[in-house]
Amino acid sequence: MSEEKRTMISRREFGKRSALGATAMAGFGIVNAARAAEEPLKVGLIGAGGRGTEAVKDAIKASGRVQLVAIHDAFKDRVDGCLNNLMKNENLKDNIKVDEDHKFTGVDGYKKLLECEMDYVIIATPPGFKPAQFEAAVNAKKHIFCEKPVSTDPNGTRRFMAAAKKSEELKLSVVTGTQRRHQKPYVETIKMIHDGALGEIVAGRAYWNGSLPWTRDREPGMSDFEYQVRNWYQFCWICGDNIVEQHVHNLDVMNWALLAHPISVIASGGRAWKPKIEKYGNIWDHFSCDFEYPNGVHVMSFCRHWNRCYDEISELVTGTNRRFRNGQSNCCDMARGGENPYVQEHADLQASILGTGPYLNEGIQVAESTFTAIMGRMAAYEGKKLKWEDALNRDMDLMPKNLSPDAAIPIDPIPVPGE
Ligand SMILES: NC(=O)c1ccc[n+]([C@@H]2O[C@H](COP(=O)([O-])OP(=O)(O)OC[C@H]3O[C@@H](n4cnc5c(N)ncnc54)[C@H](O)[C@@H]3O)[C@@H](O)[C@H]2O)c1
Repeated sequence: MSEEKRTMISRREFGKRSALGATAMAGFGIVNAARAAEEPLKVGLIGAGGRGTEAVKDAIKASGRVQLVAIHDAFKDRVDGCLNNLMKNENLKDNIKVDEDHKFTGVDGYKKLLECEMDYVIIATPPGFKPAQFEAAVNAKKHIFCEKPVSTDPNGTRRFMAAAKKSEELKLSVVTGTQRRHQKPYVETIKMIHDGALGEIVAGRAYWNGSLPWTRDREPGMSDFEYQVRNWYQFCWICGDNIVEQHVHNLDVMNWALLAHPISVIASGGRAWKPKIEKYGNIWDHFSCDFEYPNGVHVMSFCRHWNRCYDEISELVTGTNRRFRNGQSNCCDMARGGENPYVQEHADLQASILGTGPYLNEGIQVAESTFTAIMGRMAAYEGKKLKWEDALNRDMDLMPKNLSPDAAIPIDPIPVPGE
């Protein structure tokens, strides 16, 4: 078989998996509302912060039959804050059924939560913790909604991928917080791109150019562990740097549009404005990458955390058919409307679990998109050209060995390329 034919077949196989999400969205309806009065759909939450709380609301909006039955967070104040937030909403409070025995705290609390009876678990913790939590959820045979990104290093990514493969074997449904995959304009535009509207795609571009989301100051008495976990966005071991934490969304669209993950990358970046003080941790504030995909296609990517500067979060692909839209698409410009994608992704997951919609498992897909970003970060930190297989198989584990509440966690130095 020729090399070209092999590449086409493997791209088609990849496409089948990547396009699965798109197929599932054909109806863009919320879960069969008439069934809301039937058996409840029980949900547990791991990571009761901003996104986790909103994800519970989205799950309930997707179907009134959803009940939150168990909750875990590293910190008790986050469990209480999440429940107070949900209970004060008249439209949601009847769906919140968490008794005292089903509230769990501490780093290992998720293990107890996974022993509870539930239909699916929402994992909305910072990325570094997700490989272990996702693996445990698969071993407990739960269906899963896992927020992106899903790891911060090669070892964690391989662990997540192995668990994702097992979840496919067990026919568990998995949806992963890359909500553009459930957003009608993206789904329909990318389908048209796959159907050849732009001809052969020859180039791509992805941006997450935004401001610094938030930082937290260390309060008196906080251990390193508590401080870094509460200020998780600033430490590479837990967030993966901003390229992983946020830009994963745009890189996921590139992988989706191109039906492939990159084969290599060169990248650069640095820390242009962040003062070298603890609250800004050890991550950079900008990256630029040149990702090479199969067939010589290049994707240029930018991401940054710069306040008071030009912001743009977008994707673009260019194809050979200049007669249609000048051969360019922002990946969401050929359709309109649809449900809120944060709700739609739960509707699609619930339909997959109930068997009222297509089976969905986005585990491998999100791990590949996460690793696209991790590989970009590694190439930039090291100042080297990296290949996918070499980077993915690297023995690199950023997680601290001691995750006890009073653990001392020294902060790795800010990376300097070439050193
Ligand atoms: N899809 C999206 O558009 C979107 C938007 C926002 C956030 N997110 C993702 O959601 C995740 C959470 O982000 P967030 O904004 O809610 O952050 P957050 O800080 O508001 O919430 C994270 C919660 O996890 C808890 N936590 C930390 N470590 C834990 C552990 N080991 N075990 C249990 N709980 C732990 C924290 O105490 C906190 O309550 C991140 O991966 C983020 O990328 C996705």
